[in-house]
Amino acid sequence: MALLPILRYPDPRLRTVAKPVETVDETIRPLIDDMFATMYDAPGVGLAATQVNVHLRLLVVDVSEQKDQPLVLINPEILSASGQEQSEEGCLSVPGIYEPVERAAQIRVAALDRHGTRFELDAEGMLAVCIQHEMDHLEGKLFVDYLSQIKRQRIRKKMEKRQRRAV
Ligand code: NI
Repeated sequence: MALLPILRYPDPRLRTVAKPVETVDETIRPLIDDMFATMYDAPGVGLAATQVNVHLRLLVVDVSEQKDQPLVLINPEILSASGQEQSEEGCLSVPGIYEPVERAAQIRVAALDRHGTRFELDAEGMLAVCIQHEMDHLEGKLFVDYLSQIKRQRIRKKMEKRQRRAV
């Protein structure tokens, strides 16, 4: 397993729209394992392939306290959504920034698992938020896009400054 570099906002590659995974085979499973390793190491509760510069519709999440409930969603699709809930979100691609975002409170999602088997899942609370957040990444969308332009600009400047300092 390897830790993968995570793209940081405002990297334009984060704006790429991901393509469906055609077949779930031996080439995709090492990527899934690396993504889990990278997410747990960060540490974070979710990671989309887009964030590690792989533009496939694939994401991993684990919102459990013990970090023992890994969940992979390949080609995820939201079947239904209801309610509205605001919660504080962060993102491994926008480190150190936490802002409230409004999302559907409950979702039903369909996806393929690591063996290519289709399953459906009802999610609410943090899991629902996390799945919606990661699915946005697959569309090239970031949580900062939900904020006001002024706020987003401020975050962008902060990130650019930090990256200059890191070089
Ligand atoms: Ni994110």
